[in-house]
Parts: sequence; C-alpha cells; structure tokens
Amino acid sequence: MASIVLFGPPGAGKGTQAVAIMRKTGLPQVSTGDMLRAALAAGSALGLEAKSYMEAGALVPDSVIIGLIDERMQQEDAKNGVLFDGFPRTIAQAEALENIEEIKVVVSIEVPDERIVERICGRYSCSDCGAVYHEKFNPTSVPDVCDSCAGRQMNRRADDNEDTVRSRLQAYHNQTAPLAEWYSNKGILLRVNGDQQIEDVASEIISGIGG
Ligand code: AP5
Repeated sequence: MASIVLFGPPGAGKGTQAVAIMRKTGLPQVSTGDMLRAALAAGSALGLEAKSYMEAGALVPDSVIIGLIDERMQQEDAKNGVLFDGFPRTIAQAEALENIEEIKVVVSIEVPDERIVERICGRYSCSDCGAVYHEKFNPTSVPDVCDSCAGRQMNRRADDNEDTVRSRLQAYHNQTAPLAEWYSNKGILLRVNGDQQIEDVASEIISGIGG
C-alpha cells in the first residue's frame, strides 16, 4: 500500500485531520514536527540542532529532515505505508521522498492566511496523549480534561505565538507552497477546503481519498 501526504500551511488542520485518516486507513502517522519536538524534549543532538530553527519559525535543514524520514521508514510499522504530516515541505524533500516511498495522494488542506493566526494562537493539546484542541473552535468537553484520555495536563507549543506564526507562514509561502503545483503536475494533488467545520473537512478528505 502506498503512503498519503497531508499538506498545508501551519494551522491548516493537518494534525487534526490525521486522526480521522488514521482511523479510516489504519496508516501510522509520521509527523516531522512531532518527531522534532520529541527530540527537543529528549535533549538529543538532533533536538539541539533543530531548536533555533523551530523557535524562529524557519524550516529545519533538508539533510536533517530527510535523514530522519529515511530512518523512520525502516521501521516495521511503516512497511505498508504511512500518513506523512508536515513532510515534505520543500522540493528537495519531495525529490528525496521519491526514492524512499511511493505516494498515492497528497491532500492539500487549504485555509486562507487570515484564519491561521487565530487557529494557532488558540491551540492547546493534551500532554499525555497529544490530542489537539482549540479554545474557541474545538474545546475539551470539560475544561482542561482531555476527551480522549481524561488527562488533566494541557500544553501550548512554544512556537504558537503570533510573531513565530507569521514567520512560519512566510516559510510556507516561500518554500512549501510551490510543492502544490509540483504534485498537481504529477496528478496526485487532492485540494480540500480547510475553512469549514472539522467534520466537514474530514468527510471531504475521506471521500476524496477513496472511502
Ligand atoms: P509542525 O509541527 O509540522 O507545524 P506546522 O506545519 O506549522 O503545523 P501545525 O502543527 O502548527 O498545524 P496543523 O496543520 O497540524 O494544525 P492543527 O490540526 O494542529 O512543524 C513545526 C516546526 O518544525 C516547523 O516550523 C519547522 O521548524 C519544523 N519542521 C517540521 N517539519 C519540517 C519539515 N518537513 N522540514 C523542515 N522543518 C520542519 O490545527 C491547528 C488549530 O486549529 C488547532 O487548535 C485545531 O483544533 C484547530 N482546527 C483544526 N481544524 C479546524 C477547523 N476546520 N476549524 C476550526 N479550527 C480548526
């Protein structure tokens, strides 16, 4: 089975929609952002290298990311395909991916820039299971109690502030957005309207990727 790529600007809803796609397809999520944050929390050499880029809202160098993905794809659970979340983000990463894994569809979640800052600045997540919420659009049913695991520790990402979000958006437009045309030319880009209710975005994706 080939893999799926979730593509879109910061805050488009890639992580949120990954949950529905994983449930439907059984593919494991491979999020480079989550992998980098785990490396940072563990204080590894990789985490230390990535830290300054992430704090500035810039992309981590391609060689680091490609090495990380290459290693991750050797693991047993990746052998039937994965759901890439936030990778690839440059043409160089996409070219490297062609030698690593076959891609069936690239789901582009499209959200206008003016929605992004509000989405990211209102985001919080469960420290125990990583479930993602939003203080206005998708709050926990009981304040500060995770709907998924009943954890009570909520966390906000260090790069979820207005200044860094604007840098992340700039990096997206300069380095990542050109990939949409690159994948469109290959005939595997699925454009989805990300500016609607979470459930409606999920339905559009699930029907678009074929059930
Ligand atoms: P990463 O962790 O990948 O961050 P990102 O791409 O900026 O994406 P986010 O995780 O911020 O957003 P999302 O699209 O997953 O949205 P979410 O579902 O949470 O990367 C972080 C950093 O790591 C990068 O800046 C870079 O430095 C580095 N990095 C990572 N990968 C890299 C790579 N490949 N190459 C180089 N560097 C790399 O939703 C956001 C909020 O909106 C949530 O609160 C959610 O509840 C809410 N929401 C979701 N959908 C909706 C909806 N339809 N309506 C209303 N609210 C919604």
